[in-house]
Amino acid sequence: MIFVTGGAGFIGSNFILDWLANDAAEPVLNIDKLTYAGNPYNLASVADDPRYAFVQADICDEIAMATLLSRYRPRAIVHFAAESHVDRSIHSPDEFIRTNVNGTFNLLNKALRYWQTLPQDEQQDFRFLHVSTDEVYGSLLPDDPPFSETTTYAPNSPYSASKAASDHLVRAFHHTYGLPTLTTNCSNNYGPYHFPEKLIPLVIANALAGNPLPIYGDGLQIRDWLFVADHCAALRTVLADGKTGETYNVGGWNEQTNLHVVHTLCDTLDALSPRAGGSYRDLITFVKDRPGHDRRYAIDARKLERELGWKPAETFDSGIRKTVQWYLDHGDWVAQVRSGAYMNWIQKQYGDNPPGALV
Ligand code: NAD
Ligand code: TYD
Repeated sequence: MIFVTGGAGFIGSNFILDWLANDAAEPVLNIDKLTYAGNPYNLASVADDPRYAFVQADICDEIAMATLLSRYRPRAIVHFAAESHVDRSIHSPDEFIRTNVNGTFNLLNKALRYWQTLPQDEQQDFRFLHVSTDEVYGSLLPDDPPFSETTTYAPNSPYSASKAASDHLVRAFHHTYGLPTLTTNCSNNYGPYHFPEKLIPLVIANALAGNPLPIYGDGLQIRDWLFVADHCAALRTVLADGKTGETYNVGGWNEQTNLHVVHTLCDTLDALSPRAGGSYRDLITFVKDRPGHDRRYAIDARKLERELGWKPAETFDSGIRKTVQWYLDHGDWVAQVRSGAYMNWIQKQYGDNPPGALV
């Protein structure tokens, strides 16, 4: 069995669906607190799969993490659980420190104690895969080379600082105690089940509702966009073949300005779901910039390609088209997420016997 933390979020739910699509895959225990960002309906299609189980738990909960580890004895932990939105971290950083730093520390601590009890062959096979971000490296100037695994950490937002702190803890647990860790630092993802507070799903959802499409500042900030299925494939590769103690950068070789991304989304929507009375581009509205806004991120993903043979399969145009089509086909998902209607899922699913009772 593997543990996936934060498996009800955007990338975690894509990862679990992708993992279980392989008939030979090990079972998964999804451990998720179900914050506003965790939507259990993302996993409705595997809810009855005997290889899938869910526990609602907080990675900061010492007893819950220790109990789950000793009860289910995972072969690996794939750690996604985090507060992930930069704008939220600017307004209220506390939860980012609690979950991303203290929660990761608790998980590492409990994983270490569990790992130390394993027989030697199981110790050798065990992996703690920490899913992180390229934002830990800070901001690039226009002529700087992309971030490599040796780029100095220089996080600028409370979000990226909290992820950087968690990366350092993971590194320290490997270096000091020998815990077999792997760290991936990935660029901006997009695709199905992306919470509509992030740029791409927000623009699609707002456009379809006829609302303004907010562009921060001049819109010339650059991100290196990667289709989420490519990220999932990279994580499977690193989990299977990565060298413990190493970090791997994951990116799409796809630097785009925010303005270009929004124009592409509008043009794709114009083609797939034309708007009466004009182009979706007419809804673009320039708004006040984000404080401390990083200007440019770009990933050098050559190590992952050279050492483990991974490279992205999706082009930006094909990935964006698939994403827009997914949102057009899943208007109910957006409405449900925006209304918070999934929040009482636990009660509906489990009644008075919630999954915390599994612990
Ligand atoms: P998300 O916000 O969509 O999902 C986060 C999930 O973690 C949610 O299901 C939430 O309920 C859960 N969670 C939050 N706090 C928790 C806690 N204390 N205990 C247990 N569960 C908790 O995030 P995402 O975009 O899917 O990102 C997943 C991971 O990948 C994060 O660690 C993020 O830093 C990293 N990452 C994201 C991107 C991106 O573009 N989205 C890029 C690179 C790395
Ligand atoms: P976001 O999706 O929040 O990801 P991150 O901040 O982690 O890169 O934002 C992507 C880019 O889009 C970032 O430069 C901020 C910008 N942005 C807007 O211009 N308007 C918006 O409404 C949002 C949410 C983001």
